[in-house]
Amino acid sequence: MATERIIAPTASPAEEHKNWALRPQSIEEYIGQPELIERLLIAIEAVKSRQSQKDDTETHEHLEHILLHGPPGLGKTTLAHVIGAELGTKVHVTSGPALARGTDLVAVLTRLQPGDVLFIDEIHRLPIAVEEFVYPAMEDFKIDVPVDTGLNARTVQIMCAPFTLIGATTRAGLLSSPMRSRFGITHHLRFYEHHDLVHILTRSASLLSMNRCDPDSLGRIASRSRGTPRIANRLLRRVRDFAVVRADGEISSTVVDDALALEGVDALGLDELDRTYLKAIRNVYDGGPVGLEAVAATLNEDAGTLEDVVEPYLLQLGFLARTRRGRMVTQRACEHLGLAPLAASAEDKPMTESATGLF
Ligand code: ADE
Repeated sequence: MATERIIAPTASPAEEHKNWALRPQSIEEYIGQPELIERLLIAIEAVKSRQSQKDDTETHEHLEHILLHGPPGLGKTTLAHVIGAELGTKVHVTSGPALARGTDLVAVLTRLQPGDVLFIDEIHRLPIAVEEFVYPAMEDFKIDVPVDTGLNARTVQIMCAPFTLIGATTRAGLLSSPMRSRFGITHHLRFYEHHDLVHILTRSASLLSMNRCDPDSLGRIASRSRGTPRIANRLLRRVRDFAVVRADGEISSTVVDDALALEGVDALGLDELDRTYLKAIRNVYDGGPVGLEAVAATLNEDAGTLEDVVEPYLLQLGFLARTRRGRMVTQRACEHLGLAPLAASAEDKPMTESATGLF
């Protein structure tokens, strides 16, 4: 089954480019995640205040390393940029898979200026051999580089500037515990509230010069955005195109409904893959419990994709339950999709938070 979805939380580089103009430029412009923003503002102000008491000969103060985890599309990269802007330092962006060898990391680390931010996306995909180099860099800002081989093998120590590592991951459970313990601030990003998404869409509509939107229309887009700003902005662009072609540029609730029905997105933001996933559990496995691998095989989908990009939102809606014995659809999901109600069955205990791979 194709995984190109209009409600996919991941983005292609071309889409990332389009989103660039819509991103908040400063922490004041950042909408949502209020607890995280408050923690960050305190930590940043404290660093700035300590730095202001130092003279130029002393070691530069740096913000503690930060680990951001949570579903894709919630703004981890955006946050790294607004943190850099707030600190007044440069942000260097890379990812776990891009740092294939220790020397890749050395190249990145030696480019850092004091106080800079190093953002490593998908940090759970950092090769173990590279992880070993990261630890001394995070703790003491030094890197032990191996030189020569055989009898001449030795290591040379290189110092790097004090920096802040911001690690981002959708799979916190896959991070090794020595890595996890080296972050001073760890935060789980939550899906955005409806009112935050409306706020983000209002800002984006204004940046895109969409001034003919009726007040309810942005709320209707927000309801279909799966708590994810990246999806909200993508749906907004589709609605804008539809409005230009079919409604003389005027965005009303009817235009939103028609545009997104055409894309196969329902009133709660579910698409064909979500519906097929829930229907498979309901109809093929009698509502569950069923193992993820079995559902993935039925749908000819990758289990990791289902776990990362389909299940989080269905769990959030209360349409899916993860139990000790496997996945189960809920009565609520059956009602929403017009499926036959579930037979009353033995109560299955939901998994604990740690067993779901979340912190
Ligand atoms: N655009 C995308 N995400 C945003 C956010 N959290 N705040 C403001 N604008 C955004």
